[in-house]
Amino acid sequence: MKRRISTAIIMVMMITMCAFAGAFAEESTYSVDFEDMSSSMFTMSGSVRLSVSGDQAHEGKYSLKVSDRKQNDWDAADLRIGNTPIATGEEFSLSVWVYVESDEAGDFTIGKAGGDYAYLKTARINGREWTCISFKATVDELQNLRFMTTSSNWIGCAYYVDDLTITAKTAEAVVPDNDMLMSYTSDFSSGTDGWYARGTGETRVSVTADGLYTEGRTATWNSPGRDFPLTSGVSYDLSVWIYQDEKDVVPFILSLARTKDGTESYANLGTADVKKGVWTELKCTYKAGAYDAYVLYVETGSGLVSFTMKDFKLSADFVSYRFDIPVLKDVYAGSFEFGGALTREEAENNALMDFYQSQFSILTPGNELKPDSLIDVVYSKQLAKKDDTQVALRFSAAKPMLDQAKARGIKVHGHVLVWHSQTPEAFFHEGYDVNKPFVSREVMLARLDNYIRQVMEYTEKNYPGLIVSWDVVNEAVADGSTKLRDSNWTRVVGEDFINRAFEIARKYAPEGTLLFYNDYNSASEPKLTGIAKVMAGLIADGTVDGFGFQSHYDVNSPGIKTIRNAFDRILGLGNVKLRISELDVSVRYDLDTEYQKQADYYGQLMDLYREYSDDIVSVQVWGVTDDQSWRASGHPLLFDKNGQPKPAFWAVAEPDKAAE
Ligand code: XIL
Repeated sequence: MKRRISTAIIMVMMITMCAFAGAFAEESTYSVDFEDMSSSMFTMSGSVRLSVSGDQAHEGKYSLKVSDRKQNDWDAADLRIGNTPIATGEEFSLSVWVYVESDEAGDFTIGKAGGDYAYLKTARINGREWTCISFKATVDELQNLRFMTTSSNWIGCAYYVDDLTITAKTAEAVVPDNDMLMSYTSDFSSGTDGWYARGTGETRVSVTADGLYTEGRTATWNSPGRDFPLTSGVSYDLSVWIYQDEKDVVPFILSLARTKDGTESYANLGTADVKKGVWTELKCTYKAGAYDAYVLYVETGSGLVSFTMKDFKLSADFVSYRFDIPVLKDVYAGSFEFGGALTREEAENNALMDFYQSQFSILTPGNELKPDSLIDVVYSKQLAKKDDTQVALRFSAAKPMLDQAKARGIKVHGHVLVWHSQTPEAFFHEGYDVNKPFVSREVMLARLDNYIRQVMEYTEKNYPGLIVSWDVVNEAVADGSTKLRDSNWTRVVGEDFINRAFEIARKYAPEGTLLFYNDYNSASEPKLTGIAKVMAGLIADGTVDGFGFQSHYDVNSPGIKTIRNAFDRILGLGNVKLRISELDVSVRYDLDTEYQKQADYYGQLMDLYREYSDDIVSVQVWGVTDDQSWRASGHPLLFDKNGQPKPAFWAVAEPDKAAE
């Protein structure tokens, strides 16, 4: 029997997750200074323009600019609190610098937004003057923090926000128990499923072929509602589809009635304008506050139209890791290493790393050992004044990950020494100046020698024996061709740059380090022939240990036969090993049926890999959870964004079951 996730239409899943020990509260600090040009932690409220701007800055060069405003309060910038340490029921302190483009003094306010609205702090400040606002607060419930102007003389003024710091005790981890509601879906195909009419007298709900129909509304809050046993502190993703054909546009609101000590209060969680005759999705998130009871309901902002809703979905956005599931590195212990890849943020997350260590025996740093991460262009420029063959390296990004691997006994695969991508352009130019010509072939090879020597020296000195293998060259063959890709490497060094790189790597790599050429689309012709040519040359030189199939696949493609043929072709060249270096399998749709196909494909791949296990040294997925994948939209990995094993995990972890 193959594992399948239930596709029952009405489904209330109570997932039993193992309780993870060691829940504790820690103080942590969150700061934003916009110097990285990112404003993604903010979202706009109303119809403002949010931009990272160099027009004003408190310190550094940039701040967040809020402009094109027409009203107070509403036209503002909202900080998403998801990434901040603010926890419901715990005090947090916040300080922020603000600057308002006005010659007059006025009121600037920081308040709660989304759900319920309340001012937390209002400060009277001067116009055109960076001013620090700070306060302490405790919130029962919070979706966003709004940064807004609140005095009438400031309507329409642009303002800037900079150097925001929030310090708080992070919430105690919520330990899910067996009864915790993790996900809920209803399309009303077999009844009202607990939904009832909220309202006095006339309001009625009934099931139709399309969904749940609500009519007889005499007040905007008359609505379909349902009780949900939510858990305080847990974030929920909510979504519902709504249809009405009575008015051109009706604003709908997904709202919450919650009760504490017998008192009911209300919050608007999300809104959507629903056009006449158009099924429209209303989506929002809600982090549950501490209440005794919760009712979710769908009301209108204005208009007493009858309407239909369907596909009401709720899922707990709750990251937890399971230690009671099969262990991939053990399942494949007799065959090959089983590993993954990590981002820097993941490597700094101890909970994730505990899980990683439990499952995987090897890791590849996703970006941290690439040339753009290691080459310090500014310092290299200085060294180049005396000697243009020098290169300065820094390991600050790689260090946390290598430290984790060392401390936890996880092997490391090094990725990557020579690549056309993620390599500073300046590396190829005289004096590390992109405005100057390319360096000569001789200087480039000397730089490469210095580069590889220092990488090997640093890693061997600080992490002896940790890095068991390296991708020496990545992606040198052009797509749809048997030829090499045009790149700075071919332009500056020439077509033999691959051979030279392997010679240098072999010269400096500690004994026993396996050296690989790594590429993608490697199973398909004509590229496979190009790769075979490169490999044959390296085998003749005696500098290569094997080939890495990146294996960024889509469900069902390439076919297993094609991959098998490619394995045979490369293995037929001589005494070489294979790595499955960056495995991921994208789905086209976020559907159970797609995830089942994905699982089947992963299962078939693993069967093939086991068949070739004498030749394969390591199988590594390119990431742990779908949301952190470089192809996140394809949900290509073994664990979902909440850390839960997907059908694909079970297909990989229980090969015998899948084969039954
Ligand atoms: C990807 C990383 O995962 C991303 O974080 C980065 O933005 C781009 O590179 N082939 C490779 C990897 O060899 O280095 C790439 O990694 C994915 C494709």
